[in-house]
This record gives sequence, C-alpha cells and structure tokens, in this order.
Amino acid sequence: MTHATYHKPVLLNEAIRYLATDPDGIYVDCTLGGGGHSARILQKLSGLGRLFAVDQDENALSYAAGRFEGESRITFIRGNFGYLDVLLPRELHGFVTGILLDLGVSSHQIDEPERGFSFQQVGPLDMRMGSLQGKTAAEVVNEYEYESLRDLLFKYGEERQSARIARAIIQARPLNTTGELREVIASVVPERFRNKSLARIFQALRIEVNSELHMLERVLKKSQMLLCDGGRVVVITYHSLEDRICKNYFRYGNFEGRPVKDFYGNDIRPMTQLNKKVVSASESEISDNPRARSAKLRAAFKNPARGADADNYPGSGSQPASEIKSGFGKQQRPGKKKGGSV
Ligand SMILES: C[S@@+](CC[C@H](N)C(=O)[O-])C[C@H]1O[C@@H](n2cnc3c(N)ncnc32)[C@H](O)[C@@H]1O
Repeated sequence: MTHATYHKPVLLNEAIRYLATDPDGIYVDCTLGGGGHSARILQKLSGLGRLFAVDQDENALSYAAGRFEGESRITFIRGNFGYLDVLLPRELHGFVTGILLDLGVSSHQIDEPERGFSFQQVGPLDMRMGSLQGKTAAEVVNEYEYESLRDLLFKYGEERQSARIARAIIQARPLNTTGELREVIASVVPERFRNKSLARIFQALRIEVNSELHMLERVLKKSQMLLCDGGRVVVITYHSLEDRICKNYFRYGNFEGRPVKDFYGNDIRPMTQLNKKVVSASESEISDNPRARSAKLRAAFKNPARGADADNYPGSGSQPASEIKSGFGKQQRPGKKKGGSV
C-alpha cells in the first residue's frame, strides 16, 4: 500500500504554511492517520524540533510507526485528542508551538468494510475510530429510544427526514450490518435523495459513536493551557457542524457565538483567527482528491496574556505565516527529550 492509498492529505501546503512557523518548535498532530501532515511537519523541523503524533486508531499508529521508522523527533501517542492535556507530558504544557486537527476519518478507515463507516460496502455496524470507545453504531441504532435517535439524525446529520428514518429503523430492529441499515433508509427515502440521506445518516451515527463534536470542543479548550503565547491551532473540518464550533471558538472564545466583554468593555477572546476567509481546496486538488471538496481550514493563534508585550505577537490576519515568528522561544523551553512512545 502506498501512503496516498492509505490516505491522501487534504490542504497539505495550506495547513503547514499556517502551522509550522518555528523549526525548533514543539508540534502536535492530533490526527495522525496515514501521517501525510506529520511527514510535512517533520520536513520543516530542525534537529531540535519535536512532533507528538496522536491517533485513537491502533491501525493508524502501526502504519505510521512503519512509515517513520528511525525518525527520533516523532513521539506516537494512542488516545483521544479530547484528553490532549493528559496525553502530553506535563512539562510541555504551555510550550506547544502548534496543534493540527484534520478531522473525521481517513480513507483507509472508510475503505475497510469491517469498520462499518461506509454505506457503499457491507460490514458490521461498528463505526468506532478506535477500540477505546465503548459504543458501536449497532448499539445506537438498536438501543436508542425514538426521540434520541430522531434528534441525533437531525442534529448531527441535518437530515430533514429524521423522524421517518428513525421510525423505520425502530421497526426494522435488530439491525446488524451497514447493508441492513442502507435498506431501511432506502425503503423510506425517494431514490433521487437517497445517496445524500445515506451520507447524512452515516455521518450522524459516526459523530454520535465517537462523540466527535464534544471531543473537538474539548481539545479547543485544552489548547489554551497547552500552547505558548502566539502558538497556533490549525483545524481542517469536513462539515458545517465542526466548522461552526471552530469559527465560534476562534472568534468569541465560546461555542455559542456570544461576545464576552471585560469590565472595561473590551472583548475577551483567547484566540485570534489568522485567515480572514476560510481556506478551501483548489479545483485541481478537488479533482485529484474529491474528499477535499468539503474541507475548510481555519487557523488561529493564542492571544498573549493581558499585559504581555503584544507587539511581539502576530496581530494581523493578512500576515503570511512565514513572516510571523511563533511565540515559542520567548518563553523558556523545557529540556529536549528523546523520541519514543508515550
Ligand atoms: C482525516 S484522518 C487524518 C489524516 C492525516 N492528516 C493524514 O494526512 O494522513 C483523521 C484521523 O484522526 C483520527 N481521529 C479522529 N478523531 C480523533 C480523536 N478524537 N482522537 C484521536 N484521533 C482521532 C482518526 O482515527 C483518523 O486516523
């Protein structure tokens, strides 16, 4: 298998341009997958730079361990990025230069029928990204009450036929395979809308099984204690629910999109978004990799604490990443540690 068959990285140049500003920096790739973004981060690092590569999928970690064999600057971590503060060594808290999140599932995960992510192949209704999760899609489909099932299909899949589909699922219980679920959906959705509905329902179940939106909110909040001042978060999202979470957090510091002011009427915002407009894939990338069509990239830096020397930090969204010195280096870096697994 080639790296591109495992997973073709999306918005690779754009993500690295925003993320990798300091060759000696400490970076975290929260979504290692096939290691496409990690490989490019490593290219940008000096001998002093370090990369922590996280994934909750054992398969991704073992694939990447082979890909990066002999590379001492990378440390692999198995776990959910929602617990990034616990996964990263404590002495790095406050010293991280950049965090990358390339959300969702890899092509390899979709292509393996036994993972249950694809409605185009028959497999068990699993959809867990890693074996650390307790709940499978079969449990959601077979055990949730009508209201909960309907609401999650509506909320996470933005599926207008959620009530009809939830009723049909409940009548057809028990469902054990993606093929059975597909048939149930096909029985209530007209053919011309079918593929879109299938995609929406499978997306909704995957989000529920993996608590995807909750974990995204957690890691964004945790990034505050992990990043150095001026440190960056780059997020590539694949649907509007994820993008809205990032947009609100970068703009307002909360997920409701509510401006918060201090006593003097100044905005309180932990982060500043670097790109004024969301970054999307070019036509040529989309024709080469259709998965890139829905990708949206947002990059933000951590605002320095009040009273810090604000002139030393990037302040303008139009400033290219290459011209902005990361905040790392203005604080004392913890001792360099040897590579290996945590
Ligand atoms: C889109 S792929 C990343 C692809 C990668 N950037 C590359 O270039 O190959 C997303 C990866 O993130 C992992 N993932 C998704 N959510 C996660 C979470 N909450 N914690 C840890 N890993 C997660 C998935 O298992 C998958 O391997």
